Amino acid sequence: MTDPAQHIWWLMSRASGVVALGLITASVALGLLMANKMLRGKNVAAIHEQLSITGLVAIAVHGLTLLPDPWLHPGLAGITVPFAMGYRTVFTGIGLLAGYLTALLGLSFYVRRRIGPKLWRKAHRFTVLAYVMALVHTIGAGTDMGTAWLRTFLFATGVPIALLFVRRLLPRKKPAAKRSAPARDGLLDAVRGGAGSGHPHPQPDLPSG
Ligand code: HEM
Repeated sequence: MTDPAQHIWWLMSRASGVVALGLITASVALGLLMANKMLRGKNVAAIHEQLSITGLVAIAVHGLTLLPDPWLHPGLAGITVPFAMGYRTVFTGIGLLAGYLTALLGLSFYVRRRIGPKLWRKAHRFTVLAYVMALVHTIGAGTDMGTAWLRTFLFATGVPIALLFVRRLLPRKKPAAKRSAPARDGLLDAVRGGAGSGHPHPQPDLPSG
């Protein structure tokens, strides 16, 4: 029987790869939910930030634990230079690029004032690209792609994320608050079918449909 201890680095790298994928997936999903205004609040933003940071740590562990692996022995260049690893070169190269992109787009949050918040926000949208690259990497480089649990995970998270992304790209309705107060009051009166009520208190919301 094979002794798992002989493959400890390989197993650690695979495990941290799956953890990294889980954290990055959760972070991207939360980011899209916030961008679509389906979730709001400081706590949600804080969880999104923490997921990204822990995801980056997991990516670093995933790459670094390959270094001592006696079978792969990728060398420092193999785990730092895209497409320099002799193992599934294209797919591991894409993984490395995904890692760099995730780090760049995530960590630039802390210097967003220097970059300019608008530019930072635009750049941050490319995180979805990093996520797609991580998926391609997982599918092409992973040993566990043959297992039902990893395929189910990829499908069950990838489909909702794709839908959220499409929704994000669709044009948005202008928020009602942007209408001027007189115009809004006029609209309410018209809908209520009469002259202005002159009611000083907030009126109950009208059905939107
Ligand atoms: C966004 C960044 C990354 C994510 C989310 C990620 C995730 C994953 C996942 C989930 C697997 C499959 C594990 C399995 O099948 O058990 C994997 C495999 C692999 N990754 Fe990454 N990875 C990333 C970046 C990297 C980087 C930077 C490197 C190299 C330094 C790398 C090297 C590898 C290798 C060699 C494999 C094959 C291991 C195996 O046979 O399963 N990955 N990765």
